[in-house]
Amino acid sequence: MSKVYVFDHPLIQHKLTYIRDINTGTKEFRELVDEVATLMAFEITRDLPLEDKTIETPVTKMTSKILSGKKIGIVPILRAGIGMVEGVLKLIPAAKVGHIGLYRDPETLEPVEYYAKLPADVAEREFIVVDPMLATGGSAIEAINSLKKRGAVNIKFMCLIAAPEGVQALQDAHNDVDVYIAALDDKLDEHGYIVPGLGDAGDRLFGTK
Ligand code: URA
Repeated sequence: MSKVYVFDHPLIQHKLTYIRDINTGTKEFRELVDEVATLMAFEITRDLPLEDKTIETPVTKMTSKILSGKKIGIVPILRAGIGMVEGVLKLIPAAKVGHIGLYRDPETLEPVEYYAKLPADVAEREFIVVDPMLATGGSAIEAINSLKKRGAVNIKFMCLIAAPEGVQALQDAHNDVDVYIAALDDKLDEHGYIVPGLGDAGDRLFGTK
């Protein structure tokens, strides 16, 4: 079974409170999502492999550590996932960015892919799929299906707020994908919104209704 990590770092929790607040406007919301994405990226990259490098300090020679050049791919689920990309890139500037777009079929209510553009070397990359909200899990499951179909084998999922229903569905569908979240909320309401949540993440990021 995959693991679920809830990041309870005080800075993440503080910023998340303002992200949730209905009185936080678009500009501040966007900035805060960006900042939390950076802080989460710091935590999510804890297990990146290191290798030795011999260098000379002004005092002496030493063997120190550098990242061993693991290739990372960031994949936002359109459109709200875009709000988390720059924040992650601040810490992993060499990462490549793929995009996956999904819409909900009005009859089946199932997510359907309408866009997918990924880095060429899919099988060699570790992917971080980002979307601020994990609600029913439908979009995350389909985005990860799409990545796997194209050869991805190493995938993490990162979001700000998750509903228990979404976490369960994602773990059931992809038990090899660890889930990284800033908060695990109570439930989904009858419209599929996370409660207490933050409303519609895409609308709040882009100032639409
Ligand atoms: N997507 C959102 O943007 N908000 C929710 O609460 C659920 C899904």
